[in-house]
Parts: sequence; C-alpha cells; structure tokens
Amino acid sequence: MDPRILDQEINRYKAGAPRSAELNREASRHLPGGSSRGTAYFRPFPPIARRGQGHHLYDVDGNSYLDFMINATSLIMGHAHPRIVQALQEQATLGSAFSLPTELQLRLARTLCDRLPSVDTLRFTNSGTEATLMALRAARAFTGRRKIAKFEGGYHGSHEYAAVSVRPPAHRLHPAGPTAIPEHPGQPPAVAQDVVVLPYNDLEESRRVIRNHGDELACVIMEPVASALGYLPAETEFLEGIRSVTQELGILLIFDEVQSFRVAPGGDQQRRGVTPDMTALGKIIGGGMPVGAFGGRADVMSLFDPTLGDGAAVAHAGTFNANPMTMAAGAVVMDSLTPQIYQRLNSLGDALRRKLRAVFDELEVPAQVTGTASLFGIHLTPHPVTDYRSMLRGDRETRRALFLGLLNEGILLQESCAGALNILTTESEVDALVDAVRRVLHRIR
Ligand SMILES: Cc1ncc(COP(=O)(O)O)c(C=O)c1O
Repeated sequence: MDPRILDQEINRYKAGAPRSAELNREASRHLPGGSSRGTAYFRPFPPIARRGQGHHLYDVDGNSYLDFMINATSLIMGHAHPRIVQALQEQATLGSAFSLPTELQLRLARTLCDRLPSVDTLRFTNSGTEATLMALRAARAFTGRRKIAKFEGGYHGSHEYAAVSVRPPAHRLHPAGPTAIPEHPGQPPAVAQDVVVLPYNDLEESRRVIRNHGDELACVIMEPVASALGYLPAETEFLEGIRSVTQELGILLIFDEVQSFRVAPGGDQQRRGVTPDMTALGKIIGGGMPVGAFGGRADVMSLFDPTLGDGAAVAHAGTFNANPMTMAAGAVVMDSLTPQIYQRLNSLGDALRRKLRAVFDELEVPAQVTGTASLFGIHLTPHPVTDYRSMLRGDRETRRALFLGLLNEGILLQESCAGALNILTTESEVDALVDAVRRVLHRIR
C-alpha cells in the first residue's frame, strides 16, 4: 500500500478530532502515553470518549461512532441500557460495596453455575486477569505440579504467567514451533521456564508436547475461541483431543471464556460439548462493571472453601470482589440473554461475516473473515488463518488504514479490525458496517 493512503486517513482523522488531540497531549503529562490501558490506545491518538448510548459512542469533538468495540466485547446490551442504569441507580442508593456477602452474589453465582457445564462453584473477581491468575493458582495447588501450558498468541490477561508468548514478534519465533518468549523485559527467567507453549489447532504437536511435560503440567489454559486471532474458533476435534489428553494425564483443562461466554447460554463449552475442569469468565457477566470469575469442579474449587479444616487452602481476597453494583448489573444481563436473543445475535454474526466476505471478493481484496456467533475478525491475507503464525502473515499496514478509515466513517472496531455485536444490533447496523468497509476499501486498496 502506498504510505500516502494511510497518511490521508490519519490526516482526515486528526482534522476531525482537535479536542481529543489536545486532551491526549495533556493526559500524556500524567499518564504514560496518555493512557491506562493497552487496548484504549492507538496511533495517532484515540478519540476521548464523552458518553455512550445504545449502539453509539460519542467523543469530545462531537463525533459519533457506531460501536463494535463495545469495551472489548463486554457491553452485550450496548451503552447505558435503561435496565442496567436502573439497577445501578437502585443499588447505588443501597450502598456500592460491603465487607459482607450479598444475596445478589448468590443470585448471579447460581445463574452462572446453572449455565456452565464445567462450573459446580465459582468465585468472583474484578477482572478476567485475576480470574485466570486464580485458576492457574488453583490448578497448581490441586495437582501439586508447577508448570502450566498455554497456546502461542493466547491472551489471558496481564499477570506474569500469562505474559508469555502472547504477541511475540515474527523475528523471535522459532521456526520449529512455539517456545516460551517473555512479553516484557525483566521477566524472571523462572516464569518462562515454567510455561510450555503450544501451537493452536495443531493437535498432533500439542499432544506430543503435553505428553513430554506430562507429569509436570498442572494445567492447560486455552480459549475455545481465540480472541487475539480474530475470534478464531478452535477446531472441535482439536478441543476434544486436548480434553482427552489432559484428562488422561491428570492435567486440569482451563477454558478461558472471558470473551467466548457470549456465544451461547453456557458458553462455547456448552456449544461444543467439551467440558473443561475450570473456566475463567469476565466481560459480559458484569453488565459493564469491572468483573471476573473463576469456577469449576467442586473438588478443585474446595481449595477456596473457608469452612473446611483450618480454612481455605488457597487464600482469595479482593476488596471489590462480588461488589453489589457489579452483581446487580450482571444479573440484568444474564436475565436478558434468553436463548432467542443468542439465536438472533449469532445469526446476525453469520450474516455479517458472509456480507464482509462478499465485499472482499467483489473488490478482489485478499482477506479472511474469521469469527463465530456474535464475534468477527478481519485479516488481510490470502492464506487461511488457523493459528498465531498464519495470523501474523496478514498485511498490517493496510489493516491499520482500514481501521482508521472506518473510524473516519463513524465506525469503531478494535484496532485489529475485530469486533462484536450487541443485542441492539440489527441488520441495519450490520449493513452500515459492511457498506463502510466497501467505501474504505475503495479508498485504500
Ligand atoms: C480471553 C481473555 N482472557 C482474559 C482477559 C483479561 O480480562 P481483563 O481485561 O478483565 O483483566 C481478557 C481481556 O481482554 C481476555 O480477552
């Protein structure tokens, strides 16, 4: 792509966002790069959000965006849904946090346990990061083993053992297959030594590596739908194969369904009929409030039971865990997501992916549209995307131009050109996105 094309999109964006530019500059004096969060930043600078309403996000310059980012897929009822707003207002008047349990916690826990095949009991956290961190800790405590296995390109939050081989640059990849590559400088070498990295969707090789480390591995953690690969669903036989080899070797299988829980009432595990030992949750279950949860087999989760013996074998605290604001908002979401809603959302997702593919074909732009249910991803490559390495082969400059071009068209996606639908999405929003992609491709191809 001619670099001037990208520059044109950047300049057009900057011209429409003077106040955001100014606030970003000022924020940089107090926050590194003006930001507190990796995904809330992109170059040249993100719009500064002012408010969200329904499917739309509005910035401080008065621009409006049809929002498919919806806070990293978490706002499955859109922005400021009246039922959630009401629940939060009511709870705020009753108190936002107590050092005692609430009935609201019981209600949301019961719903999640009923829905998720793998979850006998669970505990709430304030983020998906804490959820996967605690799940790994539980697996180690339960098995008495030290190592964990994860997949190359898999994101499970930002704690130390998850921060291995998440986004390794192409030049650091070992041609023979995945290795444990620290995500940041200064990571103690002991961390990478205890993380075994596997190739996504490659059952034979994954099985071989898992067997090699068999009696040292506490768990395999994985997403059944790989978020960072454009919501690429794993092959079902692959999931089944990983399930059976982990079961055979006494290794706990942890599904990170922080994002994929939205694909069906009982998450992707229910849809595929593959039941892990533990599950990590987050995003939609908090109704737009900070949240996470981890749960699983009763024998594993009893590690956290303070009523047993001398108390919990594994301590788990958190000032805002299961806070009533989050519990109240989460309950509204869970009550609203009926089987019919999932069906509607997922068939809109199918239609979107189909229409996007048709646009790329029509304009003869080599691309892959990945995703499943209400999740989608766009990769500018003629080759099928099956794992991290095939995803890396995509044309990132053109994808960046597509992302910025869409922003200029009033459409907000994740910077990787992935996104999610919400219950307010109709065919009209799907078509608006597809038409905008067509217009931007005309400009940038
Ligand atoms: C699959 C997955 N796991 C874990 C996390 C971490 O969740 P949080 O950002 O709430 O810490 C994320 C966040 O994007 C995620 O996508």
